[in-house]
Amino acid sequence: MRKICVAPSILSADFAAMGEAVTELERCGADLIHCDVMDGTFVPKITFGTDMISAVRRRTALPLDVHLMCVDPLGKAEGFVRAGADILTVHAEACEDPAAAMRAIRAMGVRAGIAVSPDTPLEGLWGCLEEADMLLVMSVYPGRGGQKLIERTLAKAEEAYSFFQAAGLEKDIEMDGGITEDNAADVQAAGVNILVAGNTVFRSPDKEKTIRILREARA
Ligand code: DX5
Ligand code: ZN
Repeated sequence: MRKICVAPSILSADFAAMGEAVTELERCGADLIHCDVMDGTFVPKITFGTDMISAVRRRTALPLDVHLMCVDPLGKAEGFVRAGADILTVHAEACEDPAAAMRAIRAMGVRAGIAVSPDTPLEGLWGCLEEADMLLVMSVYPGRGGQKLIERTLAKAEEAYSFFQAAGLEKDIEMDGGITEDNAADVQAAGVNILVAGNTVFRSPDKEKTIRILREARA
């Protein structure tokens, strides 16, 4: 059975106090630390690169879930693996051959994720999904935190979940963007087992409780 996990996104943290933020997330029961790498080309914003991942790595033993919103992600992958990523996710829209990207990332010794933006269909990606460890369904347009979840993306998670079930594959399905305490149950009902949350966790006066509510939304 796939475990339900909460992956707070440090995109919503105070970058000047990143170490403390990561330590607090660990204390509050985060399962993974979601790290949003933006390159200023695939998306307009620039966030951080391998040095931030190494610095976060030194602060926590939790798995680092690195979401590369970058062009030429494979060219950058090895640096992020060396910096301490445990899951490396690249965007299907940025890969010439997404299945080959999954093989290349796995060959680096980490888990491989493939991300799809809201307008990217799963058609054409079934072969890639068989070779991936995780599908990341973007529930907002990549680029910034604090947006509203786009409801129609839930159907994509359901579609992937049915495909994995029918194929007898146990893969992780992550959803990223606009997840709140109010929609977490619907997100899980769509087959998602890794819930990314930036604003919902960082704006909460009680992060431990919020993380627990997100995880147990459907229990
Ligand atoms: C958006 C990022 C998300 C973002 C989520 O491009 O990939 O991980 O931090 O933030 P919230 O949960 O605030 O929508
Ligand atoms: Zn993300």
